[in-house]
Amino acid sequence: MEWDAKQYNTTHDFVFKYGASLLTLLPQKIKTVLDIGCGTGELTNQIAQLGHKVTGIDQSINMINQAKKSHPNLNFLQEDILNPSDQLEMYDIAFSNAVFHWIPDQELLLKNISELLNENGQLICEFGAMGNVQSIRQAFGRELNGLGLVFEEPFCFTSVEDYRVLLEKNHFDVVEILEYERPTPLKGGRVGLRSWMEQFYSTELGNLSEEQKERVLKNLERDLTPRLWKDDHWEADYRRLRIKAVKL
Ligand code: BEZ
Repeated sequence: MEWDAKQYNTTHDFVFKYGASLLTLLPQKIKTVLDIGCGTGELTNQIAQLGHKVTGIDQSINMINQAKKSHPNLNFLQEDILNPSDQLEMYDIAFSNAVFHWIPDQELLLKNISELLNENGQLICEFGAMGNVQSIRQAFGRELNGLGLVFEEPFCFTSVEDYRVLLEKNHFDVVEILEYERPTPLKGGRVGLRSWMEQFYSTELGNLSEEQKERVLKNLERDLTPRLWKDDHWEADYRRLRIKAVKL
């Protein structure tokens, strides 16, 4: 999927706004930081403002171009963390917000991160936990089933227990691993839910005819209103895993 960097920075800006609290896990001492999946570079910039020497990487060239435009003094590279090039150096900290659930091969992800970290390097990250946006995903699954289709979750939303095992298997010592609910208001009033669906489940919606898509979105809005509509906006039932781990 190619990202629309402008829409990310306006309609879906909660992605990095919520990530700001993750910055509190960064050490006070100046470090070299790799910001994995930096998007338009908003958090990369905040990391730099804390004094760290940061490089932002993203697979999406649209995001990297926007990041360079918005923050010309910072270092951004188009890179795939699953296939890093030798432009990348060694870092004290691998930081990542709202990215890991997009990556199917978590073993390779952690292996590559470990290889890019200095001795005692830290991984500080947050992403969707098991049960993330559960009511939206369940309702969407029901709608697709009603059309004779199977909903295959494209995202990797994992549990504390499973991720702890994975980290330890990949030679990380877990300092902190926290699972928490983070109800997230969506922008756009009534159209907020469909605009969120069109951003995050564009492939699945793209497999439907225009008529089917419209019916699915209308039914989702109807079925999710009692649970997720809050006076004048939708509130998505996000759940997060927040992790601090040290390379052994
Ligand atoms: C999330 O950031 O939690 C998310 C991303 C894509 C789909 C659903 C949720």
